[in-house]
Amino acid sequence: MAGLAASQFGLYTHAVVRAIPKSLCAHALRTDTEKSVEFARSVQQHEQYITALRHTLGLNVVELPADEDLPDSPFVEDTAVVCGGTALVTRTGAPSRRREVEAVKKALQDLRLNVVEMTDESATLDGGDVLFTGREFFVGLSKRTNQRGAEILADAFKDYAVSTVPVYDNLHLKSFCSMAAPNLIVIGSSEGAQKALKTMQQMSDHRYDKLTVPDDAAANCVYLNVPGKGHVLLHRAPEEFPESVKVFEKLKDHMLIPVANSELAKVDGCLTCCSLLINKKNDP
Ligand code: GLY
Repeated sequence: MAGLAASQFGLYTHAVVRAIPKSLCAHALRTDTEKSVEFARSVQQHEQYITALRHTLGLNVVELPADEDLPDSPFVEDTAVVCGGTALVTRTGAPSRRREVEAVKKALQDLRLNVVEMTDESATLDGGDVLFTGREFFVGLSKRTNQRGAEILADAFKDYAVSTVPVYDNLHLKSFCSMAAPNLIVIGSSEGAQKALKTMQQMSDHRYDKLTVPDDAAANCVYLNVPGKGHVLLHRAPEEFPESVKVFEKLKDHMLIPVANSELAKVDGCLTCCSLLINKKNDP
């Protein structure tokens, strides 16, 4: 199981995103019920994210319309796992989110991906629990994702090893980690994040470099490898996580794009949550 060549990791041509419904403010699922989401600000921040993908990085962005009946639907990452030409449409852990997959499935079919559906009613999986390193998958076992979900993912992506990682104190595995380069895992400093990293290191026969940031939430970044630009990292804005941004600024080979995400973060939305990234470069 060799995995992707490092030069291929993070190459994308398309992104699927979904507009924010007003219902997100009152009805999106959240772990902290005290904070209130400012709708206009959430839309402005989401537009900044989409603009970075579309205009700064040149991706073809498929923007699905908002659906007021689906308050968590901007978090498209949870509804599918896309790797190569295959898209596994998930069975989300939260029953209130299951209908989100319908529009996403259609968009992925329209992009002519090989769409596989998770039909087993004992399985749950949120894409936020899936960390793809280019060599292998780590799947967080959380309140949203179970062992059967991880098994179905392993079946869909047979070219890659799949290891499971218990997730404590956080919604998803990627609530506190992500990739920042082909061999580089960004990880938060909390006990739960460090414990999960240790498990990943024990499960893998590869030695990853790590970049530790003080804030778990800032460890969720979007990495892309953009022709003509090289390593690109969308990360949380300095006004949100100044100490973590100082760590990113040490990445001298990266183009850094700060993106504010304070509003969606109030309903547990991270940067990776808001897009599905797809590479159709190798299509016939
Ligand atoms: N609000 C995102 C989620 O709980 O799935």
